[in-house]
Amino acid sequence: MTRATWRTRLGFVLAAVGSAVGLGNIWRFPWLTATNGGSAFLLLYVVVVLLVGVPGLLGEMVIGRRSRRNPIGAFDALGARQWRVLGGLALFASVVVLSFYSVVGGWILRYTAASATGAYFGAPQAYFAAIDFGPAAVGFHVLFLLATVAVVYAGVDRGIELATTVMVPGIVLLFGGLAVWVATLPGSAGGYEFYLSLDVGYLRANFFDVLVAAAGQALFTLSVGAGAMLTYASYIDEDRSLVADGTLIAVLNTAIGVLAGLVIFPLLYSLDLPPGSGGPGALFVGLAGGFADLPFSRLVGVVFFGVVLLAALSSAISIFEVLVAYLVDEHGFVRSRAVAGVGGLFLVTGSAAAMSPSLFSLLADTLANLALTVTLLGFLLFCGWVLGRDAIAEYELGAGRIARLTSRPWYYAVAVVVPLFLAFTLVTGLGTLVGVPVSAPQAAVVAVAVVGGTAVAARYRAEPA
Ligand code: PHE
Repeated sequence: MTRATWRTRLGFVLAAVGSAVGLGNIWRFPWLTATNGGSAFLLLYVVVVLLVGVPGLLGEMVIGRRSRRNPIGAFDALGARQWRVLGGLALFASVVVLSFYSVVGGWILRYTAASATGAYFGAPQAYFAAIDFGPAAVGFHVLFLLATVAVVYAGVDRGIELATTVMVPGIVLLFGGLAVWVATLPGSAGGYEFYLSLDVGYLRANFFDVLVAAAGQALFTLSVGAGAMLTYASYIDEDRSLVADGTLIAVLNTAIGVLAGLVIFPLLYSLDLPPGSGGPGALFVGLAGGFADLPFSRLVGVVFFGVVLLAALSSAISIFEVLVAYLVDEHGFVRSRAVAGVGGLFLVTGSAAAMSPSLFSLLADTLANLALTVTLLGFLLFCGWVLGRDAIAEYELGAGRIARLTSRPWYYAVAVVVPLFLAFTLVTGLGTLVGVPVSAPQAAVVAVAVVGGTAVAARYRAEPA
């Protein structure tokens, strides 16, 4: 059986942008910007995306396109069976992320419908508290999952590619329309000030914390670490510039995040709602509660949550596809059976997360970040120290001068710089998690040991006695 491929290059880029653009852009990114120095943060963030996010993304895509397999099979195809466990970790990360993502997708679906009837307009707080966890949350999670299943079932080109080719421009147009419209609302001006004011002082005083936060966001928002971008890149069948595609994906992703902020903050200000602290409560309670006071309140609610729904769905399908690709490639499943199997898995894990706030929080607040970071760290070390020259060759394949000029710097980024950074944040994060604070020098020592150890081990393997 021939393996699925994208129909067009644009189709691949839009599918990847669809994966990248999700709750991370719409909710987390604008808040991070507003509370970390406004446009000063935005500038720093763009630098971080280019120096950490894009190299990481390209590392994952290099493994995917070179192997043309799913995250586990990729390591077989590249002659490194002992790295398969890393692919297993990517699959685990996918399960973690989609299990809670689908619950949030269910909330959004419900709010899209409830906006049409104005169900939450009177008492937003009570409404959200009544639906966030429990049987109703399970029901809407299942509906969201079914939508994901329907797209993935239809195939890579006729399902995912077709759907995202409509959805991504839809997101841009609808958000663009909302951004223009909110600008006309009285009182909205303060929102731009809050969002984008240049606060260099804040950045200077908190540089290190902000840098770590920006890098974490850059990775989550670019969908790296769960094997989604690896899998999507494995469906590329012509050799064309990964650098160009990866950069374009990152640029569009950032632009859509900025656009989301241009809707949210002016809207909050025009509603006289002081921006609080972000998080799901702020989206479903603060902002949603304000919709009731707007002209065309129901329409605005439906359009707003409808866009968020599109963004969440186009991310969910990319995670779902990781597991489908694994079953199809490695176990010879036909697509329909693979989709049914993966759907069954998420039916169970997502429903559990929809019933239990503590499980939800464990997945969303703790495990997701850890699993994504560990996996990406492994992917990049593999690229840098096992693939080595082959990674550079793959990076340059089908690309022009820019790729040749950037391949060396990129190589050092994925082999050394980004892994050091990831290992450092990982150790610090793990320390906080288990209640054993790790100092920066200690974390730095561990990070150097991890990267150095991999380098030595790879050398040793490469030159058997
Ligand atoms: N990038 C998505 C977002 O911003 C989340 C995601 C993470 C999707 C990892 C796929 C893999 O919401």
